[in-house]
Amino acid sequence: SPQQKVIRGAILDFIDDPALSGDEAWRYIEDGILWIEDGRVKKTGSYEELSAELPESIELHEYSHHLILPGFIDTHIHYPQTEMIAAYGERLLEWLETYTFPVESKFGDEAYGREIASVFLEELLKNGTTTALVFGTVHPESVDAFFTEAQKRRLRMIAGKVMMDRNAPDFICDEAEQSYTDSKALIERWHGVDRLQYAVTPRFAPTSTDRQLELAGKLLKEYPGVYMHTHLAENVEECAWVAELFPQSKHYLDVYDQAGLLSERSVFAHGIHLCDDACERLSETGSAIAHCPTSNLFLGSGLIELERLAEKGVQVGVGTDVGGGTSFSMFQTLADAYKVQAMRNRKLDPFRALYLATLGGARALDLEGCIGNFEPGCEADFICIDLHATPFLKFRTERCRSLFETLFVLNTLGDDRLIDTTWVMGEIAHRRDS
Ligand code: GUN
Ligand code: FE
Repeated sequence: SPQQKVIRGAILDFIDDPALSGDEAWRYIEDGILWIEDGRVKKTGSYEELSAELPESIELHEYSHHLILPGFIDTHIHYPQTEMIAAYGERLLEWLETYTFPVESKFGDEAYGREIASVFLEELLKNGTTTALVFGTVHPESVDAFFTEAQKRRLRMIAGKVMMDRNAPDFICDEAEQSYTDSKALIERWHGVDRLQYAVTPRFAPTSTDRQLELAGKLLKEYPGVYMHTHLAENVEECAWVAELFPQSKHYLDVYDQAGLLSERSVFAHGIHLCDDACERLSETGSAIAHCPTSNLFLGSGLIELERLAEKGVQVGVGTDVGGGTSFSMFQTLADAYKVQAMRNRKLDPFRALYLATLGGARALDLEGCIGNFEPGCEADFICIDLHATPFLKFRTERCRSLFETLFVLNTLGDDRLIDTTWVMGEIAHRRDS
């Protein structure tokens, strides 16, 4: 017989982008139930309406002063950079040379990779993130290690081996043909196994030859459904370097476009410094931008124009970009997303922010209907957020007069302490107090 359970509490999820459909975009049920069957959402509704339908002996979990939300979706993060988060003093290109490449060189050792992947995944769960699009390193072992640990935890994760065959130290480079063969073997081994999916992952244009990018495009043609994950237009020095390295391209995105790397399953981290043509190509192809505010502030990369991307119809998700980013917490990330817009004399309302961290992420990853909200049939990955997590948060949220205010306080003050329980496929994967 099917395994059923019910979570009772205040439930919030999204069915569309609030930037497009305003208050119609979200659903809030103050005394709601989330009815789960075999790890998937069977139904959501008000307790009053659905309680009569519930089987008598059904497992019931009650949450008062909590908010039940779909699990957060981190659309850009590097698991090998877990140990170098908060590295002092450099902007992107020097930061890569000084800190990143030396750390990444350790991941040819699969046992080491598993150790770090384990720390990384526990940190994600503790912060309420249940799905992420993840960079490995150049070593195929880094991906074996990561997927092994993700599979153990029954997580929906997307990851790939970095492709980089120039402009970096030898110890961290591959070679175009080898990167093709290695990526292909990893796709065959992992893509579609349980909840794991593969992303073809050229690091960024400066560290790939034309040949390597062309082979990345070939992989995407050969394996429909596989993702493409890279960095784009993060920093002005980087953009100038790309213009120099690829004089035949119209602009940065065009380098990837010419290699056939744009589709609904393509995610570009950052996308801060984009021309109109680039925005239009992203939009036309259904490609997504992963906005990484903590990283953009920490590395001094720039202030993204979120409203411009929305106007152009570009899909957007949110990423922590650990270790260029400074927190695993989606709340901390949304707090910085707000501040980035504040610096531009713009706003980011809490509904849109939470949309971006849930359904927006699912859409960026082409996974709507699978994760990101509580539509029937969706995988039951969700979190219970404790409004009384600290005495001060209780004090502050009790003074909120609307859902809008409460959500904004959570986005601005929130961190891992608020995540009471993280559920994966209808099972508890992390509990704060245990
Ligand atoms: N661009 C190329 N590689 C990286 C990286 O590891 N982190 C960030 N933030 N940007 C990059
Ligand atoms: Fe990154």
